[in-house]
Amino acid sequence: MNGWLAALLALLFFSPLAFIYARSFAGRVQAGASARGRSVAATALPKLVWPLVLGLALALRLSGSDLADWQAAAGSRTLATLLSLLWFLGSLAAILFFVTIPFVLGRLLGTLFACMGKFSATRDDPLSFGARGFKRDGSEADGQESGRMGFTVAIDGPAAAGKGTIAQRLAAHYGFAYLDTGLLYRAIGRVAHERGLDLDDAAAMGEVARALDPAVLDDGSLRGREAGELASRVAIHAPVRAALTEFQRGFARRPGGAVLDGRDIGTVICPEAEVKIFVTASAEVRARRRTDELLAKGRAVDYETILAEVRARDERDSGRAAAPLRAAPDAALLDTSELDIEEAFQAACRIVDASPHPRNGA
Ligand code: CDP
Repeated sequence: MNGWLAALLALLFFSPLAFIYARSFAGRVQAGASARGRSVAATALPKLVWPLVLGLALALRLSGSDLADWQAAAGSRTLATLLSLLWFLGSLAAILFFVTIPFVLGRLLGTLFACMGKFSATRDDPLSFGARGFKRDGSEADGQESGRMGFTVAIDGPAAAGKGTIAQRLAAHYGFAYLDTGLLYRAIGRVAHERGLDLDDAAAMGEVARALDPAVLDDGSLRGREAGELASRVAIHAPVRAALTEFQRGFARRPGGAVLDGRDIGTVICPEAEVKIFVTASAEVRARRRTDELLAKGRAVDYETILAEVRARDERDSGRAAAPLRAAPDAALLDTSELDIEEAFQAACRIVDASPHPRNGA
């Protein structure tokens, strides 16, 4: 039997395994894209490098031709060395064909599924909040009840205190759904700005909020600095906040539990939340984190500018009349100034575990 026929048979034989892997890969890619605010394609493509190299190496090895012929045709020494390396990889991939084939096929199929929006983990993976799968009032779209009672974790705090990361990790840890409420305000700010509307016009901003299409929340660029500034300008208007209340409350009381992060979750949206955490850190630490985060993304920013922005945003969020940024009287305070992400997450878990609720045996 020649190599190609063997490969074809192996492909057929391993396709169920590849399909299972593809499903889980597609779910993870979509969850990762949603959590990082990037597109599915941008998240999946770097993960295709190894499968493509291995697939190419395997094909080269199975082609039946001679390495010496390829090297002679290559012309340059570097290309010849690369070909020997690929040849060696191809031999390994052929020996481990029972791993190689499902891996290569699974990743390729999984990427295709992810780009088509198939096998999304939105319902099961709490990291993957997107507008899809939820009605405008925040409840589950298909009306399926999980049977578990609602359990809300309300996380509030100023910009860059680490509440988003903590909220996402808590949601993943406890199997709860996650809503980044800041995205709602960011989307309204963005839409209003794009339409050239006056961001200080409360009534007009209320209109935009009422007409908000949840599909726009999937736009990764909403997490940028500019959208954050626009958000804090439109968030001061009472009609804007009122328009978003029902959606957030519906989400918070979903069966199966929910984590929401924002500025007024424990005070206005969900004063009855089972757990309330106010995450904070000094303005200097928060500005340093944000600067490092932006520098890592290749943006040209300086610490002083970011510090001024953080302070201005704190002032606007705490000083506004409508739902100002405040810790609820019964919120647990979590100062992350001296904590890394893991320590902050562990501290938040201890707060959740100590809450008086049936799932904790209370
Ligand atoms: O991640 P970061 O804290 O920078 O921003 P965000 O949570 O996405 O919020 C952006 C802005 O939206 C905040 O500065 C607030 O003005 C506003 N916001 C709000 O008023 N209420 C919320 N529940 C969430 C955000």
